[in-house]
Amino acid sequence: MNVLLFGATGMVGQGVLRECLLDDRVTSVRAVVRSPLDRSHPKLTAVVHTDFTDFTALAAEFEDVDACFFCLGVTSTGKREDEYRRITHDYTLAAARALPANPSLTFVYVSGEGTDSTEHGRLMWARVKGRTENELLAMPFRAYMFRPGYIHAMNGERSRTPAYRWIYPVASRLYPLLRRVMPDKVTTTENIGRAMIAVVGRHGAGEHILRSPDINRAAGEG
Ligand SMILES: NC(=O)c1ccc[n+]([C@@H]2O[C@H](COP(=O)([O-])OP(=O)(O)OC[C@H]3O[C@@H](n4cnc5c(N)ncnc54)[C@H](OP(=O)(O)O)[C@@H]3O)[C@@H](O)[C@H]2O)c1
Repeated sequence: MNVLLFGATGMVGQGVLRECLLDDRVTSVRAVVRSPLDRSHPKLTAVVHTDFTDFTALAAEFEDVDACFFCLGVTSTGKREDEYRRITHDYTLAAARALPANPSLTFVYVSGEGTDSTEHGRLMWARVKGRTENELLAMPFRAYMFRPGYIHAMNGERSRTPAYRWIYPVASRLYPLLRRVMPDKVTTTENIGRAMIAVVGRHGAGEHILRSPDINRAAGEG
């Protein structure tokens, strides 16, 4: 399968990229990034792009895509709603709309535990992610929404969010405990990547909103 990947430089995207490069079912990965990647691989092409609200110039790169793994995202902390919505909702939908009309294409979006499908709840980030999910689920492709809670970085993936860079090494040491006391809230970068590849083969069956236990199951953990 040909994979189009957004957010390849982020903590989630680094993990997804690793699993795609390791998996024989994935023949190519096109990573849409805003600056060149610091790694190379025969299956990997970096597509440097600046305007994430308009992907019309990338029609050729989007053409024969089988799956789009959308891992681009930011924290809402310190952001106004319009600013957070632009990156979270507008960038995602711009990418989705630029894909070829192909009902067998799979789009996987990483939202998060607590996403608000009603779009009317108290939390701004959860409403914005809920709206993003709802619009993706209504589009003419196979859409899967991943809602991880805590994500354990398995292979040195690092967050691009400065405030999280010191939290993760601490949380990482607590991972065995977290996994024992709240197994329903944790997953790993490996499982997210493996589960994304696995849902592409599902042909529309099963749940379209996957929380951490569903992600871990789809990844083959149980
Ligand atoms: N990490 C977690 O524990 C966790 C848990 C639940 C849900 N999530 C969700 O998963 C998604 C990814 O999280 P993450 O932890 O991987 O984030 P991250 O490490 O901060 O990475 C963010 C990614 O998004 C890209 N990005 C951010 N702002 C951008 C912009 N304005 N234009 C273009 N690209 C931009 C970054 O590219 P640059 O390298 O160019 O900045 C990077 O690739 C987010 O939606 C997050 O809410 C994460």
